[in-house]
Amino acid sequence: MIQHIPVRTDPPYTVTIGPGLLKTCGQSLRPLLGDCRLALMADSTVFPLYGERVEKSLREAGFTLVSHVFPAGEAHKNLHTLSQLLDFLAQNQLTRSDCVVALGGGVCGDMAGFAAAVYLRGIRCVQLPTTVLSAVDSSVGGKTGIDLSAGKNLAGAFLQPTAVLCDVDTLSTLPPALFADGAAEAVKTGILSGEELFSAIESGALEREPERVIAACVAYKAGVVERDEKEQGERRLLNLGHTVGHAVELLSGYTILHGHAVAVGLALICRAAERLGWTEEALSQRVCGCLHRCGLPTSTAYSPAQLAQAALSDKKRAGEKITLAVPLGIGRCTQKTIAVTELEAVIQAGMEA
Ligand SMILES: NC(=O)c1ccc[n+]([C@@H]2O[C@H](COP(=O)([O-])OP(=O)(O)OC[C@H]3O[C@@H](n4cnc5c(N)ncnc54)[C@H](O)[C@@H]3O)[C@@H](O)[C@H]2O)c1
Ligand SMILES: [Zn+2]
Repeated sequence: MIQHIPVRTDPPYTVTIGPGLLKTCGQSLRPLLGDCRLALMADSTVFPLYGERVEKSLREAGFTLVSHVFPAGEAHKNLHTLSQLLDFLAQNQLTRSDCVVALGGGVCGDMAGFAAAVYLRGIRCVQLPTTVLSAVDSSVGGKTGIDLSAGKNLAGAFLQPTAVLCDVDTLSTLPPALFADGAAEAVKTGILSGEELFSAIESGALEREPERVIAACVAYKAGVVERDEKEQGERRLLNLGHTVGHAVELLSGYTILHGHAVAVGLALICRAAERLGWTEEALSQRVCGCLHRCGLPTSTAYSPAQLAQAALSDKKRAGEKITLAVPLGIGRCTQKTIAVTELEAVIQAGMEA
């Protein structure tokens, strides 16, 4: 079944989710983009798998197309690769009316999206996500960017995509650990959005009917992004599990994948919320059970002091205070601002007994 989720940002766009969408992407995009040139961008793993399918469909729909492949992996989400992407657009004389097509996971979406956001002060971009993480999270919402040597995602821009086409058939080539990695963001969205989505994920719906879970995650994120496009309030809730998650990633030198680190962060903040009396619900057992089912970790060997120090080097901190997304129950989350000096105690409270 093909699902269409509207995202009412300025400008608005639609996220389409279902099987077989890459094969027909040309005809889907033609009415939206009109007569223009396209720059297809993909990494060196995704292009050999799906590049030809996309190129063929785009050409058959009458688009003129140039393609650029960059090396796969987070280590290449940097200024050097970005500058190659921008040079590629300039050398091929893409104009203001042309469009970038980002085919791949979150790295490609973030980096090709950022190239589109800054090239000629902004051209259009279409997202074709091929990982669970990019399907449920990064392809929607308009955040684009790259990593700097000082930290992850430190340079970026907001650019809402013109369209998102999520072909769930692509998920079949994901190694299990990468499938699980994206599941962490789905579990996060389940905790935020409520019982219906959370219990579906708990019962294995992401593996069984990925389009249904992806559509529910996208619909939830779309609502949040519509109400707070530039992350000034409610959108910060999407950082649930990410304060500690980012710390775990950083301490591991990015050898622990984002979703695996976020899973640890989710487990930890749920336990902390219970032990500190912020919630009366017995959340953590349920959340940890769901994370384990997805093949994700719920504990870390790093100490509370190490985690707090790493978390406090994060860019989202404002002065002497830090705002945490805190779960009060499934479907009930809030933001809590604490002094930075209190963070270590919160993390301590959330460590596995
Ligand atoms: N913009 C946002 O709102 C947002 C939100 C969350 C995460 N992110 C970013 O997303 C990135 C992580 O995304 P990711 O996990 O998708 O990373 P990724 O794009 O690096 O993909 C992970 C790996 O899977 C490979 N791959 C992709 N699709 C495949 C497929 N269908 N079959 C086989 N292999 C495939 C890739 O080549 C890569 O090696 C991070 O850089 C993170 O900062 C952005
Ligand atoms: Zn995340």
